[in-house]
Amino acid sequence: MTKSRYTVTAALPYANGPLHLGHVAGVYLPADIFVRFLRMNQHDVAFICGSDEHGAAITLRAKKEGITPQEIVDKYDKMIGDSFKKFNIHFDIYHRTSSELHHKTAQEFFLKLEQNGKFVEETTQQFFDEEFQQFLADRYVTGECPKCHNPNAYGDQCEKCGSDLSPTELINPVSTLSGKTPVLKSTSHWFLPMDRHEEWLRPWIKDGILDGKQQHDPKEWRNQVLGQALSWIDNGLHARAMTRDLDWGVKVPLPSANGKVLYVWLDAPIGYISATKQWAIDNNKNWEDYWKGDTKLIHFIGKDNIVFHTIIFPILLKDHGDLILPDNVPAYEFLNLEGDKLSTSRNWAVWLHEYLERYPDKLDELKYTLTAIAPETKDSEFTWKEYQARVNNELGAILGNFVNRALVLTQKYYGGKVPALGAITPEDEAILAEIKEFPQRISKLIYAYKLRDAQVEVMNLARLGNKYLADTEPWKLVKTDEKRVETIMHIALQITANLSLILEPFLPTTAARLRNCLGLDLTTWEEIGKTDLLAVDTEVKTPDILFPKIEDTLVEAELEILKQSQQNNKPVETNKEPASQKAATTFDLFSAMDIRLGTITAAEKVKKADKLLQLTVDTGIDTRTIISGIAEYYTPEEVVGKTVAVLLNLEPRKIRGVESQGMILMAEDENGKLSFMIPEKGFKAGGEIR
Ligand code: MF3
Ligand code: ZN
Repeated sequence: MTKSRYTVTAALPYANGPLHLGHVAGVYLPADIFVRFLRMNQHDVAFICGSDEHGAAITLRAKKEGITPQEIVDKYDKMIGDSFKKFNIHFDIYHRTSSELHHKTAQEFFLKLEQNGKFVEETTQQFFDEEFQQFLADRYVTGECPKCHNPNAYGDQCEKCGSDLSPTELINPVSTLSGKTPVLKSTSHWFLPMDRHEEWLRPWIKDGILDGKQQHDPKEWRNQVLGQALSWIDNGLHARAMTRDLDWGVKVPLPSANGKVLYVWLDAPIGYISATKQWAIDNNKNWEDYWKGDTKLIHFIGKDNIVFHTIIFPILLKDHGDLILPDNVPAYEFLNLEGDKLSTSRNWAVWLHEYLERYPDKLDELKYTLTAIAPETKDSEFTWKEYQARVNNELGAILGNFVNRALVLTQKYYGGKVPALGAITPEDEAILAEIKEFPQRISKLIYAYKLRDAQVEVMNLARLGNKYLADTEPWKLVKTDEKRVETIMHIALQITANLSLILEPFLPTTAARLRNCLGLDLTTWEEIGKTDLLAVDTEVKTPDILFPKIEDTLVEAELEILKQSQQNNKPVETNKEPASQKAATTFDLFSAMDIRLGTITAAEKVKKADKLLQLTVDTGIDTRTIISGIAEYYTPEEVVGKTVAVLLNLEPRKIRGVESQGMILMAEDENGKLSFMIPEKGFKAGGEIR
């Protein structure tokens, strides 16, 4: 059987901020699992990703941070790329849309379509900021959504109701540059007449039929992907501008287009192609093999990217004439966090790079949890309690426990050598037959993009092993029937060997550790299910505990970090409008707060919490302990002796197992950094603040 060739892409993340768990759970981790599986099945695969470095997402962020767009993309491209490496998510190439090769590829692509009459040039009225002398594309305009009346909709999209908008549809539009009402001014752009494509798009999406040929099986596409794509078509396709009046992006390669750049959603998906080209150059391959002919193109994306990958990019690919269309677009819904929507602007997120800094040895614990709760068909939620439960009760109690028992007993009874398989009982027979069924069952699920279910099945193999040992009780039998125990342990070790292979797509770090203990190399998926993977007398080692228990203190600390970072560590916003006044309070509520001066008499870092200091504070009436999230701004040495403002009667709260009895009040400087509100000399502990 010839194995089909795959090009698998994972949505290019905007290089405008770090990755959070939502991105990981709903794009990058499933793509990595899928590709590891394909490789074990000997498919020829190109696994493509990279940074999306153009568009308003970048320039607006640069403006916020007060640095150039180039500095923004350099910073986040590195940060994101490093996180993927550390997390053991392995692309064939992690490219950049700021690269020369990409600019050239995108320009050639545009030119080819332009020359073949695939665009229409049209002059329209666009918003213009007179103060900044700039046209306002997409996110440069905000205003009220005409559909749901969310007052903060963007010019290209309302994040509340998910509607796709154009800036001129907004009610009360405002320029994000000047904060003023923009004026309309004419400008000409190249439009993609999407309405011309309705005729082939509908049968292609609905029935998988293109040019009279069955191209893919629409039953394999997720409902929400089909639903969104078809409802877009049903609502009528319109021409969409493929160029922008911006100075950051890929320049439109036409003399008449001075100053204009390609629309980011034209250039970014072409980034998949330019990345493939770079990879092909570096690895002596032919990029065209991966974009033409029989290759299956698979796009892993988040649900907010569905129309771009099922309608707009396919139109562009088809217009190009010789390129393949996606075979499937597995899109993920959103991941919530601790009961609330993940939000970069509210800093309500678990950042991947921070997780990796705190828990560099717990990669698979996070992967396992995220796959178990992956938002495949509907939004789902990450909580640290669930993480703890998944790790302790599943990874530890089932997988870790089984492997540990099998290897420890082998060590104990046979000095670490695989014992022989003796006479087989009907019970053994049943187990051996069952093992053989796992690879097929799991394969089917993975090819259908049901990775959650597939991971459950993988764990079922460990469950089977556990049950086998619990039923046969070799630790009791060893006193009476040594021969029988040899057979039991032989079978338990073969299950362990199977686990070390079948875990590879999901928990690659653990799988490699296990294979290392067993002296096995990574082999193909076809090997899985065999029960002679380990030869008799092979020497096996016992690993350190695979999944150390997650303590309550970790959960508490993480919840505290979330709370603190949301309160103290709002993303730095320069040039921001002063926040409007909060709702009215009463004098009574204000005077109910007991705010006084306190002197810090001792300070130390809180272990494993980058942001926290444990302070001893003399308040004038007592000496108490306060945990404060100021370790980013002050060292313990610096704060001792300082007199600071303290809210005394805040409800005490346990943080990292220590009761914090009050809160230090801080002032935010223009960069969003916090400092003490230190009064001038002559103040001492106990002084009231009124
Ligand atoms: N940067 C986009 C996002 O984060 C995704 C781009 S995917 C690509 O939503 F196809 F354009 F590359
Ligand atoms: Zn809306």
